[in-house]
Amino acid sequence: MEAADPLAPLAADLAALAPERRRRLRSLQPAGQAAFVAEGSPLLDLASNDYLGLSRDPALQRAATEAIQSEGVGAGASRLISGTRPLHGTLERALGAWLGRERVLLYPSGFQANIAAVQALADRHTWVLADRLIHHSLLVGIQATGAKLRRFQHNDLSDLEAQLQRARRDAPQRRLLVLSESLFSMEGSSPDVAALAELCRGHGAALLLDEAHALGVLGEGGRGLGYGIQDISLISGTFGKAFGSGGAFLAGNATVGDWLLQHSGPFRYSTALAPPLVAAAAAGLTAIQEREPERLALLQRAQRWRDALEAAGWPRPCGSGPILPLLVGDDHRALALQQQLEQAGLLSVAIRPPTVPVGTARLRLVLRHDCPAGTLDRLIEALGEP
Ligand SMILES: Cc1ncc(COP(=O)(O)O)c(C=O)c1O
Repeated sequence: MEAADPLAPLAADLAALAPERRRRLRSLQPAGQAAFVAEGSPLLDLASNDYLGLSRDPALQRAATEAIQSEGVGAGASRLISGTRPLHGTLERALGAWLGRERVLLYPSGFQANIAAVQALADRHTWVLADRLIHHSLLVGIQATGAKLRRFQHNDLSDLEAQLQRARRDAPQRRLLVLSESLFSMEGSSPDVAALAELCRGHGAALLLDEAHALGVLGEGGRGLGYGIQDISLISGTFGKAFGSGGAFLAGNATVGDWLLQHSGPFRYSTALAPPLVAAAAAGLTAIQEREPERLALLQRAQRWRDALEAAGWPRPCGSGPILPLLVGDDHRALALQQQLEQAGLLSVAIRPPTVPVGTARLRLVLRHDCPAGTLDRLIEALGEP
């Protein structure tokens, strides 16, 4: 008998994938600030999460280059072996001071940090109450712990409260964990973080807040929407978005920080964040603090874009940050809009299921502070009739 092909399930899965759901990798060549060249054509960047344009900022480039020259490219080992350099500790302390948290630990990526955060706050006996639209990495974290997952409606604190009450009534001693984000990357929306934290405190539930998209952009001085709220068990942040670098961190109190150091597999068993990325993230932190006017201008401009899109007949993108998704529903229509924009020299990406729920495909428009004047008019014209 011929042995079965172990990869046959993968081939069957790929064969069943509808063409409009198929992803392809595309190379984009950076071309000056806020622009790329793709297949020979220039495209203005309305797709990246580089909200403050820091990834190509000379100060960050200089910091990364100097770190390569003095420390080398890679750290060569995990943090607890021989991978910790003075610049890791310096950045952790600077972030802790900026965010008002006792302890910060760096992670190689936000995806890894989120898995680590869920593992710290939940075990297989825990009930995790998660916003229906949380990031995939948090779901992977829940799977890794074996905790029981319950979903609440997006940003709906009444639904969360009802579920917390039920969870407490059934088992008063049960460990509870609530998961949310301060700026949802595909929605542009934010929860009322103070009310969320208060609700968790009242029910003895831990709260993990993913601030990946808010940091550098929302909250006092760009410190995120969790800033100043102590009833948050862990904050997760990434350097891959407004910080303009790569890598990530978790911030919390001394107890949770020490627990992560002693037990967190994604921290202990992964090579330390590469020195040039650490140095660039530190320069990004300085830049965010120095460029408050740019941050405020970005937020004002994002509101003007919302007003103009609504006035042009599009559903008003929700929230107040730089992520402005145009909800169109149908996958084909979202892809057609993406192509329409590209023909006008604008890069924005159609987001389709399974990244978002079926029937909610959208064009994810992202505003960056260095978009040239006149971009909004170009955009409205390229979008055409709603
Ligand atoms: C909400 C959210 N959390 C976490 C991550 C992961 O961060 P990183 O890119 O550093 O792995 C992302 C990035 O896609 C994200 O959007």
